[in-house]
Amino acid sequence: MTTIKDVAQRAGVSVTTVSRVINDSGYVGETARERVTKAMEELNFQPSRLARGLVSGKTSTIGLLIPDVANPFFADVARGIEDAAIAKGYTTILCNSDWKREREVMYLDILRSRWADGVIIAGSRSGEEVIDQATAGLPLVLVDRRGSAKRSSVWMDNERGGRLATSHLINIGCRRIVHISGPEGSPSAYGRKLGFEGVISENRARYEGLRGELIQGDFRYEGGHEIGLSLLRSKDRPDGIFAANDLMAVGILQAARFCGIEVPDELAIVGYDNIALSEYSFPSLTTIAQPGYAMGRSAFQLLLNQLGSGRNHHSEQQEFEPKLILRGSTARKQQAGT
Ligand code: RIB
Repeated sequence: MTTIKDVAQRAGVSVTTVSRVINDSGYVGETARERVTKAMEELNFQPSRLARGLVSGKTSTIGLLIPDVANPFFADVARGIEDAAIAKGYTTILCNSDWKREREVMYLDILRSRWADGVIIAGSRSGEEVIDQATAGLPLVLVDRRGSAKRSSVWMDNERGGRLATSHLINIGCRRIVHISGPEGSPSAYGRKLGFEGVISENRARYEGLRGELIQGDFRYEGGHEIGLSLLRSKDRPDGIFAANDLMAVGILQAARFCGIEVPDELAIVGYDNIALSEYSFPSLTTIAQPGYAMGRSAFQLLLNQLGSGRNHHSEQQEFEPKLILRGSTARKQQAGT
């Protein structure tokens, strides 16, 4: 592979001169610049971003850490970030932690040493102190959690989303409601669980026989399917399920079909995220919309603001409102509202 040294030799100049031409930094005479440019063309030399970064301290590269590349919500977030980044001349390195904290820390170490200019972390289950330590002062934006005041972050009011989903199930007549939550440590899952528990406790006195049960899920299709099978085979099965994301909700839909249970008449189901699959499942899935693409674009803009403002950057917070999307999986006749 051609190196910066080969170019310097070919052009008859020093490595420093070649580096200045690559990074367009520092004085270079016209003749020397022409000789370096000619040598780079003849040797088909492609300067590495790392090489450029070593001089300019900027690689025009950002790191994106997501927990599940197979989850369409995170794919939407990644697309939003990448589209916004490319438009501003940045490339994006995508890292998939598979919901493993130790893998998160490993990738953050790599991104820091590879000189990423900044990092966006979406859907992490790690605590902020772990993230602070692993990013060590690198410009950072958190997606999917409301970071502390010193952090730029993009998030959704998940407690309000959980309340919307649970109230809707009560309004259409469900009384034995189960919430299948996201994994332990997920801030978004915690907010949805709070919303579910709040609505159930506020309405117990009002609706005879109303009860809410909580089951820990994992945000995966297989997890929803497995929990759905065990729940729906029991005699005392629920008549309403609020799943903390659409992948689990679709798994429950499949389990209901396998158990011969009619959705929505015998079992109403609500998911969360509004991924494309939720519209095309059968019946289509009622869900809480979480605009991943827009959240991704917003996260990149907050990171760009940090990169542009240097050290004296103030954190910026962007909150998105949840929206109930009504579809076939809860299309029972509306009961008297709560
Ligand atoms: O579907 C994955 C979930 O994990 C999303 O709802 C998002 O909030 C993230 O936390």
